Amino acid sequence: MKIVVGISGGSGSIYAVSLLKALQQLDIETHLVVTTMGGYVTEHECGIGLEELKGMATYFHDNKNFAAPIASGSFKVDGMVVIPCSMKTLSSVANGFSDSLLTRACDVTIKEKRKMVLVPRETPLSPIHLENMLKLSKIGVTIFPPSPGFYNHPESIEDIVLNMTGRILDMLGIDNNLVNRWKGQ
Ligand SMILES: Cc1cc2nc3c(=O)[nH]c(=O)nc-3n(C[C@H](O)[C@H](O)[C@H](O)COP(=O)(O)O)c2cc1C
Repeated sequence: MKIVVGISGGSGSIYAVSLLKALQQLDIETHLVVTTMGGYVTEHECGIGLEELKGMATYFHDNKNFAAPIASGSFKVDGMVVIPCSMKTLSSVANGFSDSLLTRACDVTIKEKRKMVLVPRETPLSPIHLENMLKLSKIGVTIFPPSPGFYNHPESIEDIVLNMTGRILDMLGIDNNLVNRWKGQ
């Protein structure tokens, strides 16, 4: 499998790091693209710089490189995740405004009708944010706010992050054992 992972400048880059590690462990080819603010927030929140981040992916593409393979629909991938997805990137994707490799790759993923998962982070949500999410949801994009459930009694941030990571893999159709699944009472 091949998955495109985009990191934009929303809070919660810990989820991106966790997803990249999980995909690496599952031996899945990853194509990583990071916005300027995505890199900044990852460094700020996780203490992980761009070089280290690059090492977590199979391929890294500069966000200004529109000649990268993931900019073309003819390059076949199985899906794409933007994690975290800032409200600015969400707006670009909802309006087909492809002024960066990340937003172009999203546009391509949608036009090719491939799996597209956005992990938006903002609170509270304005009507603009909600309308953008609704527009994308209606055309089949999975809007996956990283809002954890507490019914499986997470004991640490790691528990929460891994559970969310597993559920995102579920959305991509990737089998995993990261989710503490509800088995009924
Ligand atoms: C520490 C930090 C945290 C941020 N968190 C969020 C956030 O959770 N959601 C959001 O939409 N923007 C957030 N922003 C603002 C975005 O980074 C900013 O809107 C930026 O233009 C997004 O650009 P990008 O989508 O190209 O990464 C944050 C910025 C900083 C510095």
